[in-house]
Amino acid sequence: MQTHGVTDRDFVRRSLEENRFWLRIMKEHSLFLSEGFNRRDADLIRTANRFFEEFDRLLRRARELSPLAGAGAVRRFNQEVIRAVRDLRNFKQEVLFRIITCRIAGFNLPLLVDHIRREAEYFITVLTRLNEGIDEPVEAAIARENVFWLRIMADHSRFIRDLLDPSERRLVETADQFADQFDQLLAQARDLDSMIQGFSPVLVIVGGHLLDQPTLIRLQEEEERDKEERLLVEETPPALARFNEEVIGATQEIRDFKRTAARLLADCRALSVINPLLADHVAREAEKFLEILGQLEQRLGPVREKALVVTQPAPPCPELEPPCGQ
Ligand SMILES: [Fe+2]
Ligand SMILES: [Fe+2]
Repeated sequence: MQTHGVTDRDFVRRSLEENRFWLRIMKEHSLFLSEGFNRRDADLIRTANRFFEEFDRLLRRARELSPLAGAGAVRRFNQEVIRAVRDLRNFKQEVLFRIITCRIAGFNLPLLVDHIRREAEYFITVLTRLNEGIDEPVEAAIARENVFWLRIMADHSRFIRDLLDPSERRLVETADQFADQFDQLLAQARDLDSMIQGFSPVLVIVGGHLLDQPTLIRLQEEEERDKEERLLVEETPPALARFNEEVIGATQEIRDFKRTAARLLADCRALSVINPLLADHVAREAEKFLEILGQLEQRLGPVREKALVVTQPAPPCPELEPPCGQ
């Protein structure tokens, strides 16, 4: 059976993959929060520990679910997970508010709490889109995923830098360079996102998060949606494809840096207050981003050739004859 262009088998496979990845992430966020609270805030520690247990149970169930499970059962499981993640997201939001209004102390950096709140929000969106069969044109997906993930990568660089011992000058400097590099890529992704939102009405709706019910129904009518997607794929700006490629290179580098840092910390060869599990956690998130970038690259197949052509050196421009090279 096929719903909204995604087969049931694909829906189940993708749901299981996302749940197995993100439920572990949510479980670990609960642990990091719990460890960062002041010991006087026993209620908050208890709540974080309850979330840890709850996500541990959900993760076990996601691991036990068979790839042959029915789409209906998986859709219901996704719904249950969405509710649990909403609760955790609200808890993170509440904790962040208390921290930035100085109602509680402790070692949970405000940006880290905001960061893990954004990750919960993203997970909710992923499952909601899967359950509702919402797909989007590749241009909008590139912009949306990059705007989210590049900020996550820049944040990670700063967390690593701030939690390393100041004596680790070379590692601190490397983390700082990654933060600058990802800030720059994020600014570029936001520019591209803004540009493509004016591209076509479909992109405004999907990329600009202005999805209303009648439009959703229209998008879900397969024939029309496919027709629109085909038109948009033909018009993918080559600069967007080149950008995706650059991001892959930068993300592979930061993934390697995080993996090295995780090994140094696990072997006690680097000084820091970083929980080695946090280093491994952020490395896994970089790997997840690379996986998404790889999927976008596959969808970009038809424009890839065009993108490579434009990276060749431009021929000399004849005087007073713009546009050059055409
Ligand atoms: Fe995380
Ligand atoms: Fe993260």
